[in-house]
Amino acid sequence: MTLKISVPATSANLGPGFDSVGLALNLYLTIEVLAPSQQWEIQHELGDNVPVDHDNMLIATALQVSPELTPHQIKMTSDIPLARGLGSSSSVIVAGIELANQLGQLHLSVADKLAIATKMEGHPDNIAPAILGGLVIAHSYDGDTSYVAADLPETGLLVFVPDYQLKTSESRQVLPTEFAYQEAVAASAVANVAVAALLTGDMVLAGQMMEKDRFHERYRGQFVPEFAQIRELAHAQGAYASYLSGAGPTIMIMAPLEKVAGIKAKIAAEHLSGQLLTLAVDKVGVSVAN
Ligand code: HSE
Repeated sequence: MTLKISVPATSANLGPGFDSVGLALNLYLTIEVLAPSQQWEIQHELGDNVPVDHDNMLIATALQVSPELTPHQIKMTSDIPLARGLGSSSSVIVAGIELANQLGQLHLSVADKLAIATKMEGHPDNIAPAILGGLVIAHSYDGDTSYVAADLPETGLLVFVPDYQLKTSESRQVLPTEFAYQEAVAASAVANVAVAALLTGDMVLAGQMMEKDRFHERYRGQFVPEFAQIRELAHAQGAYASYLSGAGPTIMIMAPLEKVAGIKAKIAAEHLSGQLLTLAVDKVGVSVAN
């Protein structure tokens, strides 16, 4: 049987959990490892910009982990939108590490995978839920990574995925290089309450705190003109919160399950250029089938 590796999309930050909080979603990158071959060959329909040989990020990642892997033919499919703030690049990194783990029989632990992937990505907020599933709060500093994995309280999830792309590097460029001490204390306090509310199942309070982010959204709003309008609309319909998913431009709306259809209809009526998707939490993370 063919080896198959599947990795979920992720939504990072949840407002003030900048670079440290993320959620796995039920959109997937799937790779199927076919026959061994002379060179790495990737079959995909992800666009002309995605390499079909060892330059593909999947293979480059796998070879960084284990340089002596035998080349294979690989089929790669993904329903994770590219460069939209839904963890498409993390999904490839996690899949590449798992590919090396399986083909090289490396027996990597979750902690190993998290450390390798975080080093490659720079922060663990997309990587950790892509590996573990569910809601993950993670910290990584100076090569030391710790995490707490948990269930997200019951909530509906609706994303607006704009038609345009936004590179994480571009979206990070507008962030301040320094943060005044008092400002950092205030921003951390918001994040602390947000996480505590998420972990104790209080979505109303979590939502309020998620919208009080001080770390990044106010700098990035310029890239996502629909954000203010969608937040207002979602609020009027009883949403818990909306936030910029990762570096944007996708907007995540969290709302009581019974309110999601109404919010979706209201946003659809605005005829914005983008896709509206009702999603669910992926509780599994990276998975392997033989
Ligand atoms: N926490 C990251 C950011 C996620 O907001 O820039 C995207 O990689």
